[in-house]
Amino acid sequence: MTLPSAPAPGLFIALEGGDGAGKSTQAALLTEMLAAAGHTVVRTREPGGTPVGEKLRSLVLDHGQGEIDARCEALIFAAARAAHTVQVIVPAVARGEIVVSDRYIDSSIAYQGAGRGLGTGEVQQLNEWATEGLWPDLTVLLDVSPEDGRSRRTASDAAEDRLESEPDGFHADIRRAFLALAAAHPERYLVLDAGLPAADLAAAVRGRVLGVLAARTATAGTATGPTAIGPTATAGDTAGSP
Ligand code: TMP
Repeated sequence: MTLPSAPAPGLFIALEGGDGAGKSTQAALLTEMLAAAGHTVVRTREPGGTPVGEKLRSLVLDHGQGEIDARCEALIFAAARAAHTVQVIVPAVARGEIVVSDRYIDSSIAYQGAGRGLGTGEVQQLNEWATEGLWPDLTVLLDVSPEDGRSRRTASDAAEDRLESEPDGFHADIRRAFLALAAAHPERYLVLDAGLPAADLAAAVRGRVLGVLAARTATAGTATGPTAIGPTATAGDTAGSP
């Protein structure tokens, strides 16, 4: 199968999953594949992707910044996302480019809403305000258990950041919240077992992205830009409960 070639309508793809799921590897492979097919791809990440976002990233992830309570943490992630959306994602999609973002709103709903216990609905609302309701066209969720995620992280030399170093129970709540979001909106999610070989994951992502691109190309002229309206229902504030 060949990829629809550029120019194609812009697309916004997010990769999500627990720490150690392998998102960065898949983001790199997807970017490579799309670029080889002639698309202009903007590979970016959250928190980050803009000068202010990268500063906020250090502030919220590095140890030793003093106390950061849950609401403050949620607001920092949302502030970084507001900048990222308006400065990077929306303009790139408007130019017809493909944005591949390592994390987006789902991470806040899962980590701050469920993990920190702020409530998935409230955190979703905060982020819909911050992004003016911008949701990805496709979210790839790499599902990983807390145990596997931790062992994959500790296999690398990098020290764990503030969120990664939380206990397994925190990461289990996050995993449930991600899965609840995907189950609520299967049409815009691809859920994959992060334990599969990277090449198999890449092939599955490729197949789904091809489908979305083909649909976009077919409707070009009637559908412009990424999905502007988010889910009508939240994942529910019980997403973090057993
Ligand atoms: P990563 O980009 O290396 O995966 O690290 C980002 C960390 O920040 C990760 O532990 C997840 C966390 N995070 C949140 O808690 N909320 C968010 O909204 C985002 C984007 C990330």
